Amino acid sequence: MSKFLITGGAGFIGSNYLHYVVNKYPEDNFVCLDALTYAGNYNNIKSLEGKTNYKFIKGDIRDKELVFDLFKEEEFDYVINFAAESHVDNSIKNPNLFADTNILGTMTLLNAVKMMKNEGNHPVKRYHQVSTDEVYGDLPLDRPDLLFTEENPIHTSSPYSASKAGADLQVLAYARTFKLPITISRCSNNYGAYQFPEKLIPVVISKALNDEPIPVYGKGDNVRDWIHVHDHNVGVDLIVRNGREGEIYNLGGHSERTNLEVVKTILKQLGKPESLITFVSDRPGHDRRYAIDSTKVEEELGWDRTYDFDSGMKETIDWYINNQDWIDDIKSGEYKNSYKG
Ligand code: NAD
Ligand code: TYD
Repeated sequence: MSKFLITGGAGFIGSNYLHYVVNKYPEDNFVCLDALTYAGNYNNIKSLEGKTNYKFIKGDIRDKELVFDLFKEEEFDYVINFAAESHVDNSIKNPNLFADTNILGTMTLLNAVKMMKNEGNHPVKRYHQVSTDEVYGDLPLDRPDLLFTEENPIHTSSPYSASKAGADLQVLAYARTFKLPITISRCSNNYGAYQFPEKLIPVVISKALNDEPIPVYGKGDNVRDWIHVHDHNVGVDLIVRNGREGEIYNLGGHSERTNLEVVKTILKQLGKPESLITFVSDRPGHDRRYAIDSTKVEEELGWDRTYDFDSGMKETIDWYINNQDWIDDIKSGEYKNSYKG
C-alpha cells in the first residue's frame, strides 16, 4: 500500500488522473490537494466522494504551513504535482501569478519533500513534476523533420512556459543539491473530458454548440501535437512507478494538427458550418509548432497511446455534447458552489 499526494486534482488532467488511479489501485491511497482556483472544478471529482482510498483537501500548494503539516501527518510515499496556472493567454495578462503558483508553489512542495527526507521518519520515494513540451519553445512550421527530445534546451516564449521551465529547473536543482528522488514528464497538448472551456478544443465545441463565432488566432496555421488525456495519465503513472530517478520523459500524441484542422474536425462532427470560423488577432509571441519525440518512454517503459486523434476526438466531442450541464455550470459560475466542504 502506498500513499499518493495529487495536487491540482480538481483540474482537467488531475481529475482524469484521479478517476483512473483511484479505481485502478484500490490498495493505494490518494489525497487530492487543490486550491479550487477558477480552473478547479469540484464537479470533476465529486463522484469520487465515498471511495475509501481517496480524500479531498482544499488548500494552496504555496501555503507552507498547510503543506508541511499535511506531509508530516500523511507521510506520503509519492507526490505528483499537477497544480498550476495553465493558460497561456492568462499568463500574458498576469505573468506574476504564474511565477508565484508555478515556481514558488512547486518549491513549497519540494521543500516539504526535503523536510521529510531530513527528518528521516518517512522520506518521499518519488516527487513527480507534471511539466509541458512548451518549455522547449517552438519549432518552425517548415521543418516537419524536427521534434523535441529530452536533450533539447529550455527555450521558452510565454510567461506560462517560462514559469513551468523555472519549476522544472528547481526540481532538477533540488534533485542534485539535496538528493531528492524526482522525475519530470513533459507532455504535448491534451484533450478530453473536463477541460476548462478556455482552451482551444472546449472553446470551439461550446461555441459551436451555441452557433457562436469561433475565434481562431492569426491564420490558424499553428501546429500542436494532440494527445488524449488518458494516454498522458497512463504515461505519468508508469513514470512515477517505474521511471528512473532523476530522469525527464517526453510524452506526445503523434498527432500534429494545425488549429484550423482541429476546428474543422469539430465543426464537421457537430454538423456546424465553417462560416462560424472567425479569424482574430494573433496571440503575442504565439508558438508556431510543438512536436514531441517520446521514444525514450516508449522504449524504457513500454508506454504507448491507446487513442488516435480521430477516435479520441470523437469520444471527446460526444462527452461535451452529453455533458452540456457541466459547461453551463461553468458559464453561470454555479460550479464555484460545487464544493460544500
Ligand atoms: P487546469 O488549469 O485545468 O488545472 C489546474 C488545477 O490546479 C486546478 O484544479 C486548480 O484549482 C489547481 N491549482 C492552481 N493553483 C493552485 C495552487 N496554488 N494550489 C493548489 N491547487 C492549485 O490545468 P491542466 O490542464 O489540468 O494541467 C495540469 C498540469 O499539466 C499543469 O501543471 C500543466 O502545466 C500541465 N500540462 C498541461 C497540458 C494541457 O494540455 N492542458 C499539457 C502538458 C502539461
Ligand atoms: P490552447 O488550448 O490555449 O493551448 P496552448 O496555447 O497551450 O497550446 O491553444 C491551442 C492553440 O489554439 C494555440 O495555437 C492557440 C490557439 N487558440 C485559438 O486559435 N483560439 C482560441 O480561442 C484558443 C483558446 C486557442
